[in-house]
Amino acid sequence: MKRTAIIFLILSGSFSSCYYDVEEDLYPGNGACDTSSVTYSGTVLPILQSNGCLSCHSGGAPSGNISLEGYNNVKNAALNGKLYGTISYAAGYSPMPQGGNKMSACNINRIKAWIDAGTPDN
Ligand code: HEC
Repeated sequence: MKRTAIIFLILSGSFSSCYYDVEEDLYPGNGACDTSSVTYSGTVLPILQSNGCLSCHSGGAPSGNISLEGYNNVKNAALNGKLYGTISYAAGYSPMPQGGNKMSACNINRIKAWIDAGTPDN
C-alpha cells in the first residue's frame, strides 16, 4: 500500500508541472502583430483566401456583385472603403466574412496597413 501511495504522488507531481505552459499566459504581448512588412501577395491575398472571401467573391457571379479576384478588384474594394469597412464590422457595412467569424485583430490591422501604404501591388 505504501508503495502505491508514493507512486501516486510522483505521478501527480509530474502531471501538474506543465499546467501553465501556455505561451500567451507566460509571455503576454509576445505575439505582437507585425504590420511592418505587409504585401499584397504575401499578406493580403493569403488572408482573403484563408477567410473564404474568394469562395463567394470570385467567378462570373460574385456575391454582392463584388469580386475580390485579382489585385485590381481588391484594390478597388480597398479604395472605396468597403474592404476595411466590412472586415472591421464598421457601421454601414455588411460584416464579412459572411457566415464566418470576424477576422483576428492582427489580420485586420495588417490589411489596414496595406491600405494605408497605398495598396501597393507587391
Ligand atoms: C458565404 C459567402 C461570403 C463570404 C465567405 C464573404 N462574403 Fe462578402 N458578401 C457576401 C454577400 C452575399 C454580399 C452581399 C450582401 C451583403 O452585403 O450582405 C457580400 C458583400 C460584401 C462586400 C460589400 C459590402 C457592402 O457593405 O457594400 C464586401 C466589400 C465584401 N463582401 C467583402 C468580403 C470579404 C473581404 C470577405 C472575407 C473576409 C467576404 N466578403 C466573405 C458573401 C460572402
